[in-house]
Amino acid sequence: MTHPPFCIAPSLLSCDFARVADDLQKIEAAGADWHHVDVMDGHFVPNITIGPPVVKKIKEASGILLDVHLMITDPVKYAGAFAKAGADILTFHAEVCANDAAARAVVHAFRSEGVPQVGIAVNPATPIERVENLLGDVDLVLVMSVIPGFGGQSFMEDVLQKVVWLREQGYEGHVEMDGGLNHETLPRCAAAGANALVAGSAIYGSPDWKQTITEFRQLAEGVRI
Ligand code: DX5
Ligand code: ZN
Repeated sequence: MTHPPFCIAPSLLSCDFARVADDLQKIEAAGADWHHVDVMDGHFVPNITIGPPVVKKIKEASGILLDVHLMITDPVKYAGAFAKAGADILTFHAEVCANDAAARAVVHAFRSEGVPQVGIAVNPATPIERVENLLGDVDLVLVMSVIPGFGGQSFMEDVLQKVVWLREQGYEGHVEMDGGLNHETLPRCAAAGANALVAGSAIYGSPDWKQTITEFRQLAEGVRI
């Protein structure tokens, strides 16, 4: 089975938001594949970050794909706003949908607004079977490896089996992992079958971003299944 190439996605949650355009350019020059942008509404998660106007400005200052992770209760309501803001990948959480039909309605809303790639995310406590009937509908499955809301938390390794399960189902889209990825945990994500690797504090908090991203790519490629 072929998997998509590795995508190293630094999470902007750990950038310096007073210098976001500088950080975007520096992280791109350091070899980032995607910018991971965390949108939190203070309702689905107990934290608030940024909304469509800021995402639009980030898009204008960016030269690579924007991978927008919506940790919000009502993704359909904001589908048009995030599409217009320039999200290249727009991911919503399975937990905000009562059933498969509701999840498909979100996917449909995103695609109708012209979002190029649509993802669905699952929290650590959500069984991965929750997305079993949706794998044909989405371009990406995001397996959360921390409880969403904050950067800098510890990796929950129980979730690795969800990644293995997704690839066992024959899923050939992006499998993304987010939360607690570092030199020790990132290669284990890659070995399980993940290709989209989000890291906030481990990249933005490191002294040499280029070296860290290069090492992460080498570690991932070294264990590719
Ligand atoms: C957590 C966010 C993550 C976060 C990851 O709710 O979805 O994207 O920025 O940060 P680290 O890599 O520091 O765990
Ligand atoms: Zn995220």
